[in-house]
Amino acid sequence: MKLIINKVRLGKRSYPIIIGKNILPVAAKRIKELKLGTDAIIITNSFLRKKYGHNLVKNLKANNLTVKEFIVPDTEKAKSFIQINKILTSISEYDKDKRLFVIALGGGVVGDLSGFIASVYRRGIPYLQIPTTLLAQIDSSIGGKTAINLTAGKNLIGAFYQPRLVICDIEVLKSLKKRDIVSGLGEAIKYAVIKDKTFFNYLEKNVHKLLACKDDTLITVVDKCSMIKAEIISKDEKEENSIRTVLNFGHTIGHAIESASSYDKFRHGEAIGLGMLCACELSKELKLLKETELNEIEKLIKKAGLPVKIKGIPLNKIIDAHYHDKKFIGKTNRFVLTCGIGKTIIRNNIPLKLIKKVIKKRLF
Ligand SMILES: NC(=O)c1ccc[n+]([C@@H]2O[C@H](COP(=O)([O-])OP(=O)(O)OC[C@H]3O[C@@H](n4cnc5c(N)ncnc54)[C@H](O)[C@@H]3O)[C@@H](O)[C@H]2O)c1
Ligand SMILES: [Zn+2]
Repeated sequence: MKLIINKVRLGKRSYPIIIGKNILPVAAKRIKELKLGTDAIIITNSFLRKKYGHNLVKNLKANNLTVKEFIVPDTEKAKSFIQINKILTSISEYDKDKRLFVIALGGGVVGDLSGFIASVYRRGIPYLQIPTTLLAQIDSSIGGKTAINLTAGKNLIGAFYQPRLVICDIEVLKSLKKRDIVSGLGEAIKYAVIKDKTFFNYLEKNVHKLLACKDDTLITVVDKCSMIKAEIISKDEKEENSIRTVLNFGHTIGHAIESASSYDKFRHGEAIGLGMLCACELSKELKLLKETELNEIEKLIKKAGLPVKIKGIPLNKIIDAHYHDKKFIGKTNRFVLTCGIGKTIIRNNIPLKLIKKVIKKRLF
């Protein structure tokens, strides 16, 4: 199977996204060729270490790189000051005459934490992403948003810090739980709705193959989504104009649903699926989106196995949480809406009454 290379174009900080099947065994050679340093720090969790990390370590050593591993909890708790403190202290003790670089081996949790560590240690050391979930391959590993959580909110501490390489081996996705494939599909559907009607039609036709982790379909989806994200990041790295903002489609209410349920009821992509439905309903209410298209989007979300109802969370909790969204500017809300599959429009000051109406419709 041939290798696909997409590129995030940011001048001197440009980097490739390499996509293929069974490419993890040759990752060490590529990493060595990049000359990021001589001493690799791998951050991962215990399951992934056993499943993929051991071989990676062996191959890195065979390429004359030294390796130190850090194992973090397999929950959002990994994205915390406690972990940061532990890992940075340990790295500083280990760092004697070393040329360190970080390898994130894992899903979005490991990726966000590793990127943040790389961004702050010695004011920045190189890092690369080996994303192991569908969501991480198509979204979180690309674009340089790194973050840890505070009690006051998720991803509140972070930096824009781009990786030097992203390696997506679709073979590793086969050990994912079905729910994590489905969660990744939430973000894939987002890319289709905001940017590409043809891709939307492809997903409609091939969603069952994706759920069955068929090679060709996984490659197509990782390729397409990473290409869309890479193009957006290349034009608006730090969300300084509204180009990158469109990636937040479904995220204003999606994040509020995650937060109102204390981040333990929904996977990220599941909450985003619900958030997209609310954004579509808002678009319909504002006469931007036809009802037939709203129904088409809902049908695909259902077909992907994503929830279409918000179970067991009171409306006021979701509304309270949505005020904390980072897209609020003072008291003004900001929504990415759709005016047809493949097209977006940004609207400010959506009346609270309307927001409540569309969320209420989804409550169960
Ligand atoms: N930086 C960004 O731009 C960005 C974008 C979206 C989401 N995020 C963040 O990403 C996180 C969610 O990421 P996620 O959905 O990947 O969750 P995750 O990292 O928690 O992974 C989900 C589960 O899958 C397991 N797993 C990972 N790879 C596996 C594999 N190959 N086989 C079997 N199991 C595997 C993990 O151990 C975990 O239990 C959140 O913290 C979110 O804030 C960041
Ligand atoms: Zn997201």
